[in-house]
Amino acid sequence: MTKQFILFLSILLILFSCSPTEQNSKKGLTAKNGMVVSAHPLASEVGVGILKKGGNAVDAAIAVQFALAVVYPAAGNIGGGGFMVYRSNLGESYTLDYREAAPGKAHRNMYIGENNIVIKNLSTRGHLAAGVPGVVDGMVKAYEQFGTLSWEDLIKPAIELAENGFALTAREARGLNSNKENFLEYNTVIPEFVIRDEWKDGDIIYYKDLAETLRRIRDNGRAGFYAGKTADLIVAEMERGKGWITHNDLAAYEAKWRKPVISDYKGYKIVSMPPPSSGGIALAQLLESVEPYDLTSLGWHSVENIHLMVEAERRVYADRATHLGDPDYYNVPATLLTDPDYNQNRMNDFDPTRATPSDEIFAGQYFTESEQTTHFSIVDSKGNAVAITTTINGGYGSKVFVDGAGFLLNNEMDDFSIKPGFPNMYGLVGGEANAIEPGKRMLSSMTPAIVEKDGKLFMVVGSPGGSTIITSVFQNIINVVDYGMGMQESVGAGRFHHQWKPDVIMVEKNMLDSLTIRQLTEMGHEFYERETIGRVDAILVLPDGTLEGGADPRGDDMAVGY
Ligand code: GLY
Repeated sequence: MTKQFILFLSILLILFSCSPTEQNSKKGLTAKNGMVVSAHPLASEVGVGILKKGGNAVDAAIAVQFALAVVYPAAGNIGGGGFMVYRSNLGESYTLDYREAAPGKAHRNMYIGENNIVIKNLSTRGHLAAGVPGVVDGMVKAYEQFGTLSWEDLIKPAIELAENGFALTAREARGLNSNKENFLEYNTVIPEFVIRDEWKDGDIIYYKDLAETLRRIRDNGRAGFYAGKTADLIVAEMERGKGWITHNDLAAYEAKWRKPVISDYKGYKIVSMPPPSSGGIALAQLLESVEPYDLTSLGWHSVENIHLMVEAERRVYADRATHLGDPDYYNVPATLLTDPDYNQNRMNDFDPTRATPSDEIFAGQYFTESEQTTHFSIVDSKGNAVAITTTINGGYGSKVFVDGAGFLLNNEMDDFSIKPGFPNMYGLVGGEANAIEPGKRMLSSMTPAIVEKDGKLFMVVGSPGGSTIITSVFQNIINVVDYGMGMQESVGAGRFHHQWKPDVIMVEKNMLDSLTIRQLTEMGHEFYERETIGRVDAILVLPDGTLEGGADPRGDDMAVGY
């Protein structure tokens, strides 16, 4: 990054800077009985409808996952994967991995062409970008273990939305318009239901084929997706588009219960996802790295605070690139990485006055795609809590609709290390631990997390944002624990991010004042300005037990409670 660019950025920041507190004074919705915060108002309403019917947090989560697949196809899905963290009101924690898996034919060089060059767009667009979807099996497994209402009741709202249509938000209309050319280019059969000259705010959209697919899932559970007509449609789509997912791949897919990553931060217990997400381990590492420091006295978003958090992030993301992958294929040193002594030792060379340079600065392209994963948080009237982050990876995933089935396939294969040292669409690099192998799950950054204080539920939190997910969750925990913010105030606050490589601090527009930028630049940091980072949807339990929702103002996100 050139000095001129940094200067230009600094000037922009001077011109547009305003204090974070000016933007973030809003208090979140509060409710006594239950709450759902998701990326779409209709999905949040579906979830609260299930809670009011007597469903628990898992029932509501299943209904929200299916509803988001209809109303928020940019990221909500049945063609992708996700992770669920569940904490019962008895304090037991569970994590469910329904991450996509590589098809049986996949191999480590599948995206590499002549002269050892990565073939452009092959891991991000079209049929070959898709991993075997995990969402439906994930929802079935969650239901079998914890569901209480009927399965039909949980899918019904999604079927109704798909069948009867719903009004697009302005943001969704823009998303469909800006992807029209992609939909035309990457689909084997034109998906007429999303193609229009121009979609507008409030236009009604229908997903009739998706309604049929959801009915098959309602009637046949897992077999409604991984076998029968839906599986035939997926495989036919793959054959037309030269993708590799087969009937065998679909039949073999299994969501897995895994042991949660549990760590402690200043007396708060943090429960999050183990690999194949890097989220839980990296979050634990970040919190342990900064724990010895008195962040409160450093001051929120002060030079010292940002420098410290960035230096922790640089070290943790270097570990991520080397040590993390699917634990069923790679021996992840999870115990070592989450050991507080290890992380505090890693900070031994932290210099409070200078940035530690990452090995080399990556100058390639990154963040050319939106980061359309999505997160939702739920608490029910009994205090059970669910944090789910789910994804088809980029906005509208591979851009490929399964013809006749009405849903989009993911482009999650790009989350593998497609060539050692070659950055994925988030600029993340990786190596052997995350190399492609048949059936293996690609490393994720998704960090659904539940925080406890004194044995009681304290916070449910998570975010989309590719590589920035982990640091968005990190900052929200710090905002609340160290800086005493409320949930909405924290979620609305400006964010920054460092991921080791490229060696830059990504900052949201207008987030830092010019003096802070200048001082950090003098310490050796470089900046890259982003429109937004993450889209956090979270719930905080206030001291009197009331729930406060934090719905991210960066999107259409909404908290609904009762
Ligand atoms: N596709 C984003 C993630 O899983 O980290």
